[in-house]
Amino acid sequence: MVVRLYSGGVEGVDAYPVELEVDYVRQGLPGFTMVGLAEAAVREAKDRVFAALRACNFRLPPARITVNLAPAWRRKNGAGFDLPLAVGLLAAAGIIPVERLQGLYLTGELSLNGALRPVSGVLPLALLARERQAQGLVVPPGNGAEAVMARGLNVYAPENLASCAAFLAGATPLEPLAPLEVTTATAPADTVDFAEVKGQEAAKRALEVAAAGGHNVLLIGPPGSGKTMLARRLPTILPPLDFEEALEVTKIYSVAGKLPPEGRLVRVRPFRAPHHTISDVALVGGGSWPHPGEISFAHRGVLFLDELPEFRKTALEALRQPLEGGTAVIARASHSVTFPAACMLVAAMNPCPCGYYGDPTHQCTCKPEQRARYRARLSGPLLDRIDVHVEVPAVAYADFSAGSGGASSAVMRERVLAARAVQRHRFGPDGPHCNAELSGALLERHCALDTQGHALMETAVSRLSLSARACARVLRMARTIADMEEAPAIKPQHLAEAVALRVLDRGQV
Ligand SMILES: Nc1ncnc2c1ncn2[C@@H]1O[C@H](COP(=O)(O)OP(=O)(O)OP(=O)(O)O)[C@@H](O)[C@H]1O
Ligand SMILES: [Mg+2]
Repeated sequence: MVVRLYSGGVEGVDAYPVELEVDYVRQGLPGFTMVGLAEAAVREAKDRVFAALRACNFRLPPARITVNLAPAWRRKNGAGFDLPLAVGLLAAAGIIPVERLQGLYLTGELSLNGALRPVSGVLPLALLARERQAQGLVVPPGNGAEAVMARGLNVYAPENLASCAAFLAGATPLEPLAPLEVTTATAPADTVDFAEVKGQEAAKRALEVAAAGGHNVLLIGPPGSGKTMLARRLPTILPPLDFEEALEVTKIYSVAGKLPPEGRLVRVRPFRAPHHTISDVALVGGGSWPHPGEISFAHRGVLFLDELPEFRKTALEALRQPLEGGTAVIARASHSVTFPAACMLVAAMNPCPCGYYGDPTHQCTCKPEQRARYRARLSGPLLDRIDVHVEVPAVAYADFSAGSGGASSAVMRERVLAARAVQRHRFGPDGPHCNAELSGALLERHCALDTQGHALMETAVSRLSLSARACARVLRMARTIADMEEAPAIKPQHLAEAVALRVLDRGQV
């Protein structure tokens, strides 16, 4: 007889259905064949499954068994096919009634004693099962919290193969897990605060504008001025993740097997700070079985590249496309895989190799050509994708000793949230997320200037020789600054501040 049951595979961050067909013939020579482009971990399922069946005291009559994983043209990976395979064999041997498997999805890795171990990519599978109106999804206990994020789906999490079989055979009932309470989706309190940063008011303002419009930022300054400190506090002023965004982010961590052991929803905006020795693949994703990179782990959050010029040039170049499009596309000969990668880039660097160029208190020891070489490591196209460049000078002792710092994260966040609300109202649910995503016709429509504004831009372009791309950046930022004041039109003072936030164009550093 042939038993059919469902599981799923993952490509990118989405699952696709995989139908397992188990053909069980009790004539001829006993044997086991698996077809359907199974990778090594899937082929090894056979050994784990038979050991687990033995451990749970299931004695299957010898038979010639053929297992097909359909669609046959897609490569299957991972140990999640263990459980459906074991259940399929039990159904084929008559231990579980076949009707019980209708519309049921299963996934899970078996250990040799029959226990169920968690697997990666359960959230995408749960969302797929819900979309296909499945009767239910059976997962290992360690994936239960993750599967219930797909609300409206019955999730069962038996302890081991024996209790799963008893449940499916109707011998012992098993209650579906309680669905996820959305009210739990609030972020825990932050442990750092902008109030701890003394002085640096200009840099704080720049970060606030960047957060308000989702703009990429570059912080430039001498060692110890607080660049790393400032960047690490950026997440404290970003708006909280809403449920849909939290699901998007959790899916990425789920397919990469990077969810914490309790498998909870990611409720905090990601902040990823890879070291500068990171490889291209680890930064943007890749590998023979494509996996997401740091830029995808930073999706809807912040990618912080400290000591920017120290990164490999190829790695920085590889960032260009995802920074522009918000997705990391990994092309393979036969197909390409896309991972979401819409993040804010925050980068920090010293102005020169010794770090003190332009610093009033230290002499810079670099030769001009050393400085030029250092700067040349950042290509123009990468810098072009950064809206805000701000100088972070050494803190004066007067500021440092003045006790508390300026605005706290709570106050700054209020203003960011207000500006984001203005943008959401203007763009609607289907428009861009924030001003940083404005381009083409939308940019023209929403960033129109009056005659005074045009005159100011003209002066800026001729004095600072701004490129057309830089002009667009200035306009987008001016839009954000105007939104922070809830001003419907961009005024000259907004433009002036936007130009001031691009120190590299002004050649000051
Ligand atoms: N503005 C500031 N207010 C309060 N503390 C500061 C400030 N700037 C620096 N510090 C202190 O100095 C430490 C070092 O600062 P930070 O690591 O941010 O410097 P940096 O600019 O990143 O330097 P580098 O260029 O060497 O990476 C911080 O952990 C903090 O304790
Ligand atoms: Mg630093």
